Amino acid sequence: MAKKENKVNALWGGRFNSGTNHLAQSFSASVDIDKRLFKTDIQGSIAYAEILKKANIISAKELSKIKKGLKKILEEIIQDKFNWDPALEDVHMNIESRLTAISGIAAKKIHTGRSRNDQVATDLRLFLMEKTDDISNLLISLQESILSKAEIYADSIMPGLTHLQIAQPVTFGHHLMAWYEMLARDYSRLQDAKERMSVMPLGSAALSGTRFNIDRKLLAKKLGFKEISKNSMDAVSDRDFVLELASSLSIIGIHLSRVCEEIIIWSSSQYNYVNLSDEVSTGSSIMPQKKNPDMTELIRGGASKTIANLMGLLSLMKNLPLTYNRDLQEDKAFIFNSVDFTEDSLALLALVIEGMQPNTEKMRQDCFIGQITATDLADYLVEKNMPFRKAHEVVGKIVAHAETKKMQIFELEISELRKFTKLIEDDVVNYLNPEKTILARKQTGGTAPTQVKREIRVAKNSLSKRRL
Ligand code: ARG
Repeated sequence: MAKKENKVNALWGGRFNSGTNHLAQSFSASVDIDKRLFKTDIQGSIAYAEILKKANIISAKELSKIKKGLKKILEEIIQDKFNWDPALEDVHMNIESRLTAISGIAAKKIHTGRSRNDQVATDLRLFLMEKTDDISNLLISLQESILSKAEIYADSIMPGLTHLQIAQPVTFGHHLMAWYEMLARDYSRLQDAKERMSVMPLGSAALSGTRFNIDRKLLAKKLGFKEISKNSMDAVSDRDFVLELASSLSIIGIHLSRVCEEIIIWSSSQYNYVNLSDEVSTGSSIMPQKKNPDMTELIRGGASKTIANLMGLLSLMKNLPLTYNRDLQEDKAFIFNSVDFTEDSLALLALVIEGMQPNTEKMRQDCFIGQITATDLADYLVEKNMPFRKAHEVVGKIVAHAETKKMQIFELEISELRKFTKLIEDDVVNYLNPEKTILARKQTGGTAPTQVKREIRVAKNSLSKRRL
């Protein structure tokens, strides 16, 4: 078989006599993954060329040629007419090589004082800043879906659980607003991560900075960065911004997974708390009656990927010396996977929640089992001056008595209750009926419909201001 001659790389092959072995070439090519950075790469190069012109490194004519060429390349890529060549390793060299073909000698100046090390760090930051905004907006949309449901069901009661056992009555609206709060923290974590992401590495060059008179501050402003990096060695090797985003996405992942877990439980025939829309359910190939909550299961299962990606990134980084090491190229597959999963699952979960029909009657019925108002009865005794520990003990005995009779405590006659303590009088009914007891928890954070409605109003107000 004829030996395959590999060509020396045109962009960095000056000192090489022969090209890279074909296995080494395909092993090191990342273009299939990092071509997603094309927009920010082009955006970065256009701004960089403008700054090169300001530094008198290129002429106005060369700048215009470069810009024209880059815009043409952008069009080619968008229209799927661009020929991605794995032999050119990555997105940066594919674009630069095409630029040279289009714009000639001018293009050969674009990389002055720039290295792919600061270029890729800049591109990735820009790309992820945009993705952070997209994900933040998706979070807001999901929160809006939750809010609309919570508003409708602010008064409907359901059993609140601890240890998955019936604990105390709550409102369905209150439960939904708990999900809202989880997502509000996710949103603020993303904004926080974006703050530190918004630092421009460009001008760090390979590792030691640039000798050219590049106006880094203006460059950062053009690209929408808040700050510029202060140490070139750190700037080209830092991937904390990827780790922070991956970690925020894992937390979103586990939140979505937990929400889905509840929806899955609620949609089971035994619970029958919610009915999911056909749009997000699937059938069984053998059991004709089945309507399965597959989308929520896939979100729950898929969330594992966000955790795996975070672990992958952490282990990728942990032994790297300063500054750039090629290992860093591996960061993209992990973080892109987390970003894609998060975007899809946020959008899908909003659909699931919008179409979810609660069975409020079943939820209400279940508030009349499980001795659900036992704590309220203890509170009643406390209000009659019994120390709480004592009240806990007395109610425990009442519960045990009711259970031997296979009854709920609210079904016992007042006279029967009075055998345990004379403090119990007729007004106790307000503490035994779950529909009444929820009304009392009206402190901030409590389940009373008035307070839940107040939280919904506050949430609506703050959401409208948050969209990016
Ligand atoms: N494709 C590389 C990456 O994603 C770009 C930087 C390459 N730098 C180098 N010195 N080989 O990390």
